[in-house]
Amino acid sequence: MIENRIKELTEIINKANYDYYYLNNSSISDQEFDRYMQELIALEAKHPEYIREDSPSRRVGGEVISEFKKITHEMPMLSLGNVFNEKDIKDFDEKVRKEISNPVYVCELKIDGLAVSLLYKDGKFVRGATRGDGVTGEDITHNVKTIKTVPMTLTEKVDIDVRGEIYMSLKSFEFLNEERKKNNEILLANPRNAAAGSIRQLDSKIAAKRDLDCFVYHIPNALDYNIKTHSNALEYMKKLGFNVNSNAEVVSGIDGLLEYVNKWSEKRGSLPYEIDGIVIKVNNIEEQEKLGFTTKHPKWATAYKFPALEVITKLKKIKFTVGRTGQVTPNAILEPVRLMGSVISKATLHNEEYVVSKDIREGDFVKLIKAGDVIPRVVSSIKERREGNEPIFEMTKICPICNHDLEKKDSNYYCTNSLCGARNIEKLIHFVNRDAMNIEGFGDSIIEDFYNMGYLKKFDNFYELKSYKEELQILEGFGEKSINNLLESIEKSKENSLERLIYALGIRFVGNKTAKLIAKRFLTIDNVINASYDDLIQIKDVGDRIASSVIEYFKNQENIELIESLKDKKINMKYLGNINSNSIFENKTFVLTGSLKTITRDEATLFIEENGGNVSNSVSKNTDVLIVGDDPGSKYKKALELEIEIWNEEEFREYL
Ligand code: IVH
Repeated sequence: MIENRIKELTEIINKANYDYYYLNNSSISDQEFDRYMQELIALEAKHPEYIREDSPSRRVGGEVISEFKKITHEMPMLSLGNVFNEKDIKDFDEKVRKEISNPVYVCELKIDGLAVSLLYKDGKFVRGATRGDGVTGEDITHNVKTIKTVPMTLTEKVDIDVRGEIYMSLKSFEFLNEERKKNNEILLANPRNAAAGSIRQLDSKIAAKRDLDCFVYHIPNALDYNIKTHSNALEYMKKLGFNVNSNAEVVSGIDGLLEYVNKWSEKRGSLPYEIDGIVIKVNNIEEQEKLGFTTKHPKWATAYKFPALEVITKLKKIKFTVGRTGQVTPNAILEPVRLMGSVISKATLHNEEYVVSKDIREGDFVKLIKAGDVIPRVVSSIKERREGNEPIFEMTKICPICNHDLEKKDSNYYCTNSLCGARNIEKLIHFVNRDAMNIEGFGDSIIEDFYNMGYLKKFDNFYELKSYKEELQILEGFGEKSINNLLESIEKSKENSLERLIYALGIRFVGNKTAKLIAKRFLTIDNVINASYDDLIQIKDVGDRIASSVIEYFKNQENIELIESLKDKKINMKYLGNINSNSIFENKTFVLTGSLKTITRDEATLFIEENGGNVSNSVSKNTDVLIVGDDPGSKYKKALELEIEIWNEEEFREYL
């Protein structure tokens, strides 16, 4: 009688759990559920001999183990090879196509959790285990039992080992961290860590509280169940009562693969759990067997990993470097990590203030993002992961290259030794830059080599290199052709307009736009050298900082001598641009929007600037004219609102 009631209650509650968790449909009310559960717990307490293996009471935790038992997987638990971009996916498809004609794939979400093997005998759950090294894992049965979406009894009395992923939903993760915050406990970095931490608990009460979930996605010996395709395996697992993710799709051809990958790359943020990629599997299981395995991974499946927008890595060392202006910068030397498709091992830490305000220390784990998709940036350090012996950051007081004392200006430190080696190399690299003298063929390392071999010390040495042609030609890596090209490019740079030279000199705060304004205003280098602070400050966009810096630069006799030497080498010292001051563009600010059909944006910008105008990125009350191409954006609307003069492409062309 009591045994029957226990069985009945177990079935009612298990069905209610199934309806609730899988079908999203509560078959009984919460109050009824609690009543049944209390009745069951009371009966089980009095009659432990009748407690069933699949009792829902076992899921509230309580089982405590003394250590994790090692288990050996009957069939190894494999992980997948990774692919990172479209090309890698195409390569994977091509390799498959070498063995299989017209393969059909199943694409699935790659759940960001931890892999689990769930073992059933006669339809009853008997063991849950971690992957471990793929052959030997750890027994986590006591914790797996607390996961409501892992069935304790299957709908068929089968012996089966299924593989899946234990994960924590974003909602549960947020709830957990809020609780931890209230209790002044260390916050968990992400749902995967939270799930892994919960599973690695000896006391199952903790896992029970953590509200974990599980999706299953693989039967390692599907053919034994007469299952012919992976999509049938997914259906079968669902029929057995497992939680199977509903977003898997059968696709064929590279287009189908890329479409699925692109769709979920965009939609991943709308899911209630985290995914870190897409898994691609050959659907036909006989074909899977034909493709086989490498030593580590199946050849019939791969995992496309989303580019990380943000990663955590260890900051091994803070290293100081010297730039061309003598500025000494702290840099983070990182344990290499992959971030948005590239491996990052270094990042700038900007200056003392940046490091101090964020309390970044050597040995810290730091969060990295790719700012503007190119420059990796350390955004914060994770204080909770400190060991306690990380040294507080201290800005160096001497130049890391020449040991000269540093001088502080604004928030930055500068090496004041103009002979400092590192500073000179950086200056030389800047001199040849595309926006500066535009000398092609010089990689940073060639300049460094030439500097170290004594061929290049100062800018004027570039123009003496031709006398060492024979010597340079036999240097490793140089042939006659590349030296000729290099020397030709150096000769060509002699004809550059003045603004390139001004920018190439590397005067602090003088960027290429400012250099152009200065060149245009003074026309020759001698006029620039003789310009007073008041003359300089008259130029639109030149303020106190720039004017003072220019004056300071030309006060230095060494710099004047350098310019004289460049003059001797016949480097042009005049402004060669358009100086038509009656131009309609003169002193006006233009904004471009939409796509122009007959001219590129860069060309239009150059034209406007050469005719004395400025080009800005956004419309404001200071804008004089908006030039509108096809499909203009919000700038057009704003210009209308502000009643700003608008030209279409044809009107603009009239002035070209
Ligand atoms: S299939 C032999 N499918 O990603 C095939 N794995 O290295 C076994 N994962 O270790 C894995 N979602 O922990 C598969 N839908 C999915 C997955 C998935 C997440 C994890 C799993 C595996 C790793 C791949």
